[in-house]
Amino acid sequence: MILKELEIENFRLFPYLKITFSDGINIISGLNGQGKTSILESIYYLALTKSFRTSNDNHVISYNKKHFNIKSNFVSGESDKKVIRIFHSSSEGKHLFINKKEVLKFSEYIGTVPCVILTLDDLKLTLGGPRERRRFLDILISQISPVYLEDLKIYRRTLQQRNALLGKENKGDIKNQISIWNEKLIEHGSRIISNRLDFIDFLNIHLSEYYNKISTLSDKIGVDYQSSLGDKDYLSDRKRIPVRFEKKLNLVFKYEVEKRKTVIGPHRDDVQFFKEDKVFRDFCSQGENKTLVIALKFLEWEYISKERHIKPILLLDDIFGELDEVRMRGLLDFLKVIGQAYITTTMQDKFKTHHTSQKFVLKEKRLYDA
Ligand SMILES: Nc1ncnc2c1ncn2[C@@H]1O[C@H](COP(=O)(O)OP(=O)(O)O)[C@@H](O)[C@H]1O
Ligand SMILES: [Mg+2]
Repeated sequence: MILKELEIENFRLFPYLKITFSDGINIISGLNGQGKTSILESIYYLALTKSFRTSNDNHVISYNKKHFNIKSNFVSGESDKKVIRIFHSSSEGKHLFINKKEVLKFSEYIGTVPCVILTLDDLKLTLGGPRERRRFLDILISQISPVYLEDLKIYRRTLQQRNALLGKENKGDIKNQISIWNEKLIEHGSRIISNRLDFIDFLNIHLSEYYNKISTLSDKIGVDYQSSLGDKDYLSDRKRIPVRFEKKLNLVFKYEVEKRKTVIGPHRDDVQFFKEDKVFRDFCSQGENKTLVIALKFLEWEYISKERHIKPILLLDDIFGELDEVRMRGLLDFLKVIGQAYITTTMQDKFKTHHTSQKFVLKEKRLYDA
């Protein structure tokens, strides 16, 4: 998908802005606070129907305004044109339209405009808590499979209901009713784990190569899905996951009643990275961590691209100040093969010699050709 034109209204600091983009690399430079990230945020909305900075859509509406609007023209291939619009107001909520027709289920829309974003916040991906890593997997796989997104929704709802039951005082009720929730938890949870494992397998094949391409070293990087279901054997045979899940639920039942919550399942799983045989986060330098995060994001891009046969839009938010020459070159090399990309930077000069891109400067809420 190529984003040709973007029009935003009452979005963050912009009362109105209309931009025509290049099919390749778009570089948006400007001082801090000029609205660079906000432009990427509006593009991210078109992909995921939400922000990457806040979970509250009202925060995105310009101060003292009642709604925002994001309108866009996309093309894919020769003839496929789509006008995608997102409208949000605090009173009417969020509405999404493709070619003026309203899309009622957002979960069916996700993946229409695949997108991969890299911000400084993503450095937490490897060093932060497991929640960040699960989020990474979930956003990625949701863009590939609407079924996954649906599984996630049902799993979360089931988890809430199961936890509510486990919180009851009447232990007899718990015993009688738990199996209904177990069944659902196992069905949707197993599919979630299985989909995540597919991506982890893909990472294990390619991660070292990508990591070394960026760092110009030759390290062996591995990744391991650490499931709360324990026992690694089922990993090679996905059909055995539900059986394992059920066994483990029975095993921890007493403990769950005591704790009053669900203690196993994909909501408790994590991903661990290794360099050679050492746990990456325990030993890595800041530079190595940046390399790993960039490699992961590239592989996210590759995976979506391979599974969907659509090149995701790549958003790089202000990351170049943090990169040394070697990593910067690795990144720019990768950009040669990528479809459409948006790069924001405060350092226009870094891209002076980068001729294959469209360059913009953002100043006083307006965008100029650089
Ligand atoms: N809802 C909003 N309405 C108006 N201005 C906003 C809103 N949210 C953020 N801003 C302003 O937008 C500016 C930051 O924009 P941002 O896109 O982060 O800039 P940059 O990435 O160029 O540093 C800040 O000055 C902030 O006060
Ligand atoms: Mg910014």
